[in-house]
Amino acid sequence: MKVARDLTSLRAELAGLGPLALVPTMGALHDGHLSLLAAARREAPVVAASIFVNPLQFGPNEDLSRYPRQEAVDLEMLAAAGCDIAWLPGLEVMYPPGAATTVEVGGAAEGWEGTIRPGHFRGVATVCTKLFHQTGAACAVFGEKDWQQLQVIRQVVRDLDMPVRIIGCPTVREGDGLAMSSRNRFLGAAERARAAALPDAMRTAIAAMAGGVEAAAALDTARASIVAAGLVPDYLALVEPETLRQNPALPGRLIAAARLGGVRLLDNMAVPARTR
Ligand code: PAJ
Repeated sequence: MKVARDLTSLRAELAGLGPLALVPTMGALHDGHLSLLAAARREAPVVAASIFVNPLQFGPNEDLSRYPRQEAVDLEMLAAAGCDIAWLPGLEVMYPPGAATTVEVGGAAEGWEGTIRPGHFRGVATVCTKLFHQTGAACAVFGEKDWQQLQVIRQVVRDLDMPVRIIGCPTVREGDGLAMSSRNRFLGAAERARAAALPDAMRTAIAAMAGGVEAAAALDTARASIVAAGLVPDYLALVEPETLRQNPALPGRLIAAARLGGVRLLDNMAVPARTR
């Protein structure tokens, strides 16, 4: 696996290679990230992964400074996963002094994380646009774990006519159902034991809706059990999968965010059409 840290060496490594599948990450890799690498390998002959903790997508009161960093371990994991090129731009490579252009997204970026984290999706869209251009990726692989982010990226690529195919991959979960996340390591033991209350409540609500219970009632019940487990919900909503607009019609997507200790848990699941 080649490691590039500046644009000159990235371009030298990429010269003459075939179509590239890119997996953008912020490092602190886990099995969820590795599933994206596996998907990337199925999509293109050359696989690149980027590791860049993007300050532009963190708010002033967020966890940029304590975001986990473990570069040596990450590079070993990428090499073992069959990554061909690791792209590790430094801060001054990604945002040289004087950089003043950002990508502002409407549509799918409005509401939910877009409201709770103002500027977050501007940061994500800007860095992903740059990563696509830097690597010339033919396709890029993202996790469904961050459902709204995936739809925001699709919105940007569509709106700005970017020649990159976006692939979404299913959420990888722990044994108890908690979605894997780099931030889960900040959960204390007692919190970790309660965290699966979120996916549990979501699954129960989806089964109730499929069985004919009204969405509003099913979501109220789910909210109550999340609160009873000691989590503080930011939102739990049934939305149109692509636009993220709230809509009680099925099929749809159930999206959720809840706080537990100092950690925000994000999750989402497909809500199929009613069975009766
Ligand atoms: P990061 O949180 O490191 O996630 C990188 C990619 O891994 C994203 O596409 C995310 O959705 C995916 N991912 C995370 N946990 C997952 C899980 N449990 N199952 C499947 N996929 C999972 O998301 C970001 O970084 C950044 O916003 C980024 C897109 C790199 C832009 O800075």
